[in-house]
Amino acid sequence: MKNMKKILAAVLAIAVLCTTAIAFAGCGGSDTDKSSATDSTTESKADDTAANGELHMATNAFFEPYEYYEGDKIVGIDAEIADAICQKLGYKLVIDDMDFDSIITAVQSGKADFGMAGMTVTEERKQAIDFTDTYTNAIQVIIVKEGEDKVKGADDLKTATIGVQMGTTGDIYVSDFEADGAKIERFNKGADAVLALSQGKVDAVVIDNQPAKAFVAQNEGLAILEEPFENEEYAICVAKGSDLTEKINGALKELKEDGTIDSIIKKYIKED
Ligand code: ARG
Repeated sequence: MKNMKKILAAVLAIAVLCTTAIAFAGCGGSDTDKSSATDSTTESKADDTAANGELHMATNAFFEPYEYYEGDKIVGIDAEIADAICQKLGYKLVIDDMDFDSIITAVQSGKADFGMAGMTVTEERKQAIDFTDTYTNAIQVIIVKEGEDKVKGADDLKTATIGVQMGTTGDIYVSDFEADGAKIERFNKGADAVLALSQGKVDAVVIDNQPAKAFVAQNEGLAILEEPFENEEYAICVAKGSDLTEKINGALKELKEDGTIDSIIKKYIKED
């Protein structure tokens, strides 16, 4: 009787394994893809943050060209890089859109497996989450209204009303100026800060350079100051101590080496 149970269990286990293998084989891809997919399925059962063979990415999808909506689909550099990473690791990517300042909590609590949102590596954030290797650089820039001369450079921010997206590095940098008399208006979306600028409610917006270019292209009468504000590096954030960091780093390395990252970035950022 005992033996019968064992045999049954073994048959069941084999059946489950075969179904999984067939499911993944059906997805196509090279042999190496298949083996990594099978590996990660086994792991995902033990690792509840990556249940169902899915990896959830927390982002704030109002940040062109990194993540933004095209219809109801989230596209952009981060979305495509994340998809390439997930393909390599054998997971299906699911993107969860939320406020930028909720991303780190979502990752910490395991609601999301990783956060990718043009997120700058900072020492303070490193206290809360782990960062993978960086995948690109960025610059914080200052957007002003064309023809207004209240803010001509970073120094003038000290006495200005500044719009930022809440919880971003732009917010963190200009918060230092509050002591000098700067007023900070914090918005949930970068686009709302830019709208406030167009309406003359703030004197300047501090935000990452590529989204800044997109906003200036979409809104007449705005300009980006030449003087860059801060240089930064973007990385993916993962729960502290998670073994995903190493896996993502492995995938990132391959995607850097084979030119995938470069070509995704070039697809969205046309050098001028
Ligand atoms: N790089 C800035 C930061 O990390 C801004 C990122 C905002 N990203 C977004 N998807 N809204 O704080």
